[in-house]
Amino acid sequence: MSRAPGGAVSISSGNGARAVTRARALMLDGVDTALSVVEGVGIVEADPDDMSVGYGGLPNERGVVQLDASVMHGPTHKAGSVAALEDVVHAAGVALKVLQTTDHVMIVGAGAREFAIAHGFPIQNMLTEKAREAWLRWKQNHSSTDDWLDEDQRDWDREGTKVGRADPKLVDPFTYGTIHCAAVNENGDVSACTTTSGLSYKIPGRVGDSPIIGAGMFVDNEVGSGGATGRGEAVIQSCGAYEIVRAMERGVEPTQACLEVLGRIAKKSVLQKRHRDERGRVNFNVVLYALRKDGAHGSACMLPSRSYTVADAQGTRSIPCAAYFD
Ligand code: GLY
Repeated sequence: MSRAPGGAVSISSGNGARAVTRARALMLDGVDTALSVVEGVGIVEADPDDMSVGYGGLPNERGVVQLDASVMHGPTHKAGSVAALEDVVHAAGVALKVLQTTDHVMIVGAGAREFAIAHGFPIQNMLTEKAREAWLRWKQNHSSTDDWLDEDQRDWDREGTKVGRADPKLVDPFTYGTIHCAAVNENGDVSACTTTSGLSYKIPGRVGDSPIIGAGMFVDNEVGSGGATGRGEAVIQSCGAYEIVRAMERGVEPTQACLEVLGRIAKKSVLQKRHRDERGRVNFNVVLYALRKDGAHGSACMLPSRSYTVADAQGTRSIPCAAYFD
């Protein structure tokens, strides 16, 4: 298989333009692919305006931000991951330390926090004001049979003014936002990383697909990488990222590999009635990403319209994902 054209290629989910640009620049300077993707996504993890990743991510149902992340290094076939990590911005960086400095793959919860402290990661409050307000709106509005009054049930708001009916648009929908970033260098070495604050308002301790090797991310250095964003439960139950890589190994083109795995996820997910729409199709989105060892790439989404981001010799740009359902 030929090498990546132009020396290095990095791809990411739609929110990753800064990540892929940084990752490619690092690779061109000779930095290892795993270090490059982790540093790239670190820019998004530190951004308080991205409410799906790192600092500023939406919290769990108790208002606590819990992060999941994983990274895999193709040349050594070694992975590292953390789940339900609290009080640390750079979950992908902690996952990389698991990969580099331990004989383990996954460390979770309080253990992951202790491990991060041991490696000098700063401890900080991860809940921004914007995320706290979004969580509070969700808490007050998601049920009318608890003691948290929504605007419509209140006689007085906080300022002592009688308020009207809540604007439903103010209540943020559940979100699975995540960043996946993969990279191949001029030697054909591949690494990938996925990092997220996970499903908003999740049950505390819920772990999504992002830190599960083979679900949210997988690398085989002889083939390439796969990655996923969207409804993690569906991706876990179909080993999404692993199946993308195995499809490419059989010679399936990257975008087609993503569509093939989405087809399997769709078929299995509609067995659960809450995941079927009125036409019998799945009612949630999953976006899959594939990067081949030679730099070829592709992506597909279950429901339109999504895009992914590529940085290669032609620059950084957004590309529409193929859609499984139109
Ligand atoms: N794909 C992110 C999550 O489900 O947590």
